Amino acid sequence: MTEVRVELGPRSYPIYIASGSLKELGKIAGRYLTGKRVLVVTNPVVAGFHGGTVKQSLAGAGFTVCEAEIPDGEEFKNLSTVAGLYDKALEGGLERGDAVLALGGGVVGDVAGFVAATYMRGVPFVQVPTTLLAQVDSSVGGKVGVNHPRGKNIIGAFYQPKFVLIDPDTLSTLPPREVRAGLAEVIKYGVIWDAAFFSWLETNIIQVLSLEPAALEYAIATSCRIKAAVVSADEKEEGMRAILNFGHTVGHALEAVTGYQRFVHGEAVAVGMVAAARLAVRLGYLTPAEVGRMAALLSRTGLPQAVPPNIIPEALLEAMHRDKKVARGRLTFVLPEAIGRVRIVQGVPEEEVRAALEG
Ligand code: NAD
Ligand code: GLY
Repeated sequence: MTEVRVELGPRSYPIYIASGSLKELGKIAGRYLTGKRVLVVTNPVVAGFHGGTVKQSLAGAGFTVCEAEIPDGEEFKNLSTVAGLYDKALEGGLERGDAVLALGGGVVGDVAGFVAATYMRGVPFVQVPTTLLAQVDSSVGGKVGVNHPRGKNIIGAFYQPKFVLIDPDTLSTLPPREVRAGLAEVIKYGVIWDAAFFSWLETNIIQVLSLEPAALEYAIATSCRIKAAVVSADEKEEGMRAILNFGHTVGHALEAVTGYQRFVHGEAVAVGMVAAARLAVRLGYLTPAEVGRMAALLSRTGLPQAVPPNIIPEALLEAMHRDKKVARGRLTFVLPEAIGRVRIVQGVPEEEVRAALEG
């Protein structure tokens, strides 16, 4: 079993990664949880594939399992779903030392985490992520929360889990498009932090895409190591944690102008990473050859690299100005200086952004 630690003083925790480890969940939970009850939050899709293994493993270790399914989809990541989960927790007799466990993708993880952070002023939380995006990104680092009708992730908290358990075998049931979308975030880690990992991905992307166990486990563990290092250095995003937003300035804008229908998040981030890299070339930080390497790897992963021709730069710029990450009207970008290293640049001139978006 690979173990990656997120070092946060008294709130430090391990991420366990191993094929077939879902069966070991109860045993591991026994080491971290003192309460008897666990509220397992999941959705009908994930419950159908993996709920049985989780329930059996927890019950086998002596836990009383209360189950709560939330409907599948980003549109249910809201306060009304949270309210329903408080009801379930109360009906199940969940007390202060008992735990909330998220079994699912980022939506389930963010919602369940917010419930854990707020129910009875906070109960122990466990993440068992089942999408690649959740395994390499959303389950690590403690950002939990829900959407508001006026914006994504507007209501939330920083609330770290007691442990994260990643079983890469759970990805065998994930639609291939979701696997590719998760790989956009994996490639992101190579660009922002680790040139050797980026090169490794160039060599091994086919094995990862086909979910070859050793390659997949290495890609997940390395991504978690990088995210853990960033989060340990800046838990509350007061500075460098923002480098994790590489590709997200344009990515979020693209999702917004297409009504969150046309692109899944990772696809929009892929387009955003190439746009940011082109911007970096324009501003003299990066060589065109490095943008070429990024675009080639994204293309081999089956991810888009360009803004569709029917979306005009002006619409994207408008959406960027509406984004909660824009500080006092100044456009902020995470820009690569080389593959493996980025810098945060505030006040990027609009005409440069427009030109980079035009390609
Ligand atoms: P998701 O949770 O909607 O899951 C995608 C789809 O895959 C869903 O239909 C889900 O039911 C299905 N699914 C999940 N696991 C499966 C499995 N093993 N087999 C088959 N189907 C499966 O989407 P996501 O991409 O995992 O997460 C996106 C969410 O994560 C967004 O709400 C985003 O804001 C959030 N997020 C949070 C953070 C953070 O730091 N907290 C970081 C990035 C993204
Ligand atoms: N996904 C960005 C972060 O965790 O900070």
